This record gives sequence, C-alpha cells and structure tokens, in this order.
Amino acid sequence: MPALVASAPGRVNLIGEHTDYNGGLCLPLALPQRTTFTLFPRSGPALSLSSAQEDSVWEGVVEDRPDGWPAYVAGVVQALRDDGHEVPGFEASVDSEVPLGAGLSSSAALECSAATALAALLGLDLADRGVRRRLATACIRAETDYVGAPTGGMDQTVAMLARPGHALLLDFADGSATPVELPLDEARLVLLVIDTRVSHALTDGSYGNRRNESADAARALGVSSLRVANQARVEELEDDVLRRRARHVVSENLRVLAAVGAIGDRDWDALADVLDASHTSMRDDFEISCRELDLAVESARAAGALGARMTGGGFGGSAVALVARKAVGRVQADVTKAFADAGLEEPAYLLAIPGDAARVESVASSAG
Ligand code: GLA
Repeated sequence: MPALVASAPGRVNLIGEHTDYNGGLCLPLALPQRTTFTLFPRSGPALSLSSAQEDSVWEGVVEDRPDGWPAYVAGVVQALRDDGHEVPGFEASVDSEVPLGAGLSSSAALECSAATALAALLGLDLADRGVRRRLATACIRAETDYVGAPTGGMDQTVAMLARPGHALLLDFADGSATPVELPLDEARLVLLVIDTRVSHALTDGSYGNRRNESADAARALGVSSLRVANQARVEELEDDVLRRRARHVVSENLRVLAAVGAIGDRDWDALADVLDASHTSMRDDFEISCRELDLAVESARAAGALGARMTGGGFGGSAVALVARKAVGRVQADVTKAFADAGLEEPAYLLAIPGDAARVESVASSAG
C-alpha cells in the first residue's frame, strides 16, 4: 500500500483576537514550522496512531473516543465520514515542529495535516479552494464537536488557505479570505514569536467563558453578533464586564483594518502602534493576558521592538513582536534576561516567516 505524506503549518495571528467567533476580522499567517502526517491505508476501520513526540501508540476505532492528540485525528476521520466520505482505517505517524501548548495552533496543524493526507487518499482536488474550505470546516467540527475544544475557526482556515509571503485577512461575516502581502524582508523587519512557556489550553474553560460573555454582550446590545455592534452603544452598556468585552471586539475589528492599511502603506510604525493598542485592549478589556505575556511584550518593546502583542487564545502561550532584523539578537537577550530576573522559565523564540498552507509532500510506493 502506498504511503501518503502531508503537512500543515502552525500559525501566528498578527492581529484580530477573539474576533472570529464574533463574526469579525483577523489577520493570521502560517508559520514555517509544520506538522507532518504519514499515512498507510489498511483494511478495516481501525486506526493506529503514533507520534515522534510520544512513546505510546493508540489503536482503536473513532467510536472509542481517545484522549489527547489522537482525538484530533479521530475527530477529522469522524468529520469526513459525516460529510459522506468513505474513510478507511489506516496507520499513521505524526511528527511536529510546531511547539505544543504555545498558542501557535499545533492542534489545527495536526488536524489539517491529517485531513490533507486523507483528502489525497480520497482523491479530492487540493488545488480547489472550495475543497480546502470544506476540509477546514471538517477540522473545525473535529475540534469543536469531537474533541470538545471550542475554536472560532481562524486556525484551521489559515492552515488550509495560507499563502507564502502573505498574511490572510479572514472575515467571519462573509467568509472571505484575502491574502495580504507582508513584505517584511524588504523593510528589514521580522516577526519574532516569544513563547512564554506558560501552557495554554483551549479546553480549560477560560476561552469558552470569553465566548459566552461575547454572546451575552451581543444579546444585551440586541445584535446578532458583535461584528455589527455600534461603538457608542457599547459604551452605554451598564454591565462593566460585558462593556469591556464588547469594546475589545469592536475596536479589534477596526485595528485589523488599520493594520491592513498600514501594511499596504508600508507604514511600519503605524502597524506597530496598532499591535501595541491591541495588546492593551486584550490586557485591560478582554482580560486574556497574563504576567508572562505582559512581560514578554513590555521587555521586547523596551529592547527596541517596534510593537508587540500577545497572540492566540491568551492565558499563556506566545507574544509576537515586530522587530528590526538587526535588533533581533538584542531583543531576545533582553527578554530572556527580564524573564530570568523575574524568576520565570526561559522563553523560546521563533521567527514567523509567512509559510505555505497544508500540502501533500509525497506519495511513496513503499512503506519504507
Ligand atoms: C484560539 C482559537 C481561535 C481564535 C483565537 C483567538 O486560537 O482556536 O479560533 O478564537 O484563539 O483569537
């Protein structure tokens, strides 16, 4: 039986946080770090899953509902079967360069790498963006319905539709996905991701709590989603918490548009200001930052980053900083020192060079 190898990227969100499930805007990009999924089809419905990052092998059928990372793969199989595809059993091994629990969407990378390998096995046309969108939707359902981790869809969408050298402007009101060229090289800039090593999980309730508060705020405003909420009316909301949650979402959508405008104008200082304002909004209004994320952002800026913000779901995970290429070494050294001085674990770093979407890597004729 042939082996199919597919891979999918992690992502970093440049701006637009907790907006996707509010019918809003966000601007993620694919990381160069990818998860690779090697699949050997076999007869019968059973799956056998192993990972280069773990010792154990999971064997079973999707109805067994595994825990941990195998659930994301089984969830994709279930979602594709629900879509009417005849997905056979298989043996698969997973190898991931995407740091786990760092808020860089290792789970979406896993789901999308599995979905892409299975799509190739099923003969689906991955050059068709409609096919890619349906696979992203299947991956979203795998995570929300099967694994039980709420997700707004940004991560899976960018993993399936990203374009190298570009960020992707996602609009969750009309479903559009527009590539935005990100000429950082020409400006001698980089996006430095600072992984605080504070583990972040979508399943612990904090993320779901913000989703519920957003829905409550929309209800209090009498709107179908915060995307269409009026800023002046938001400020009149009596409940202080709901007012601040709604204020973040409404202002964050505007900041995404401002960021796209600044990138188009090659106005990097303006982009940096919007990143900074986004962090303040997440820290004070949406309250999803934490001590380590604030320290990463503040120490990066103090060391010369143009701008910085936490990225992803929050409550841990990573920050992203816009930094002159020549200043990266200094920023990393100063942030590391700030963490050591505060008695915190050393952060990890990576450069977010905008990478490619999920793809088939090879179809080999032997299992070797
Ligand atoms: C997580 C979710 C996304 C999005 C971000 C916050 O990454 O999976 O859908 O809501 O948090 O912007």
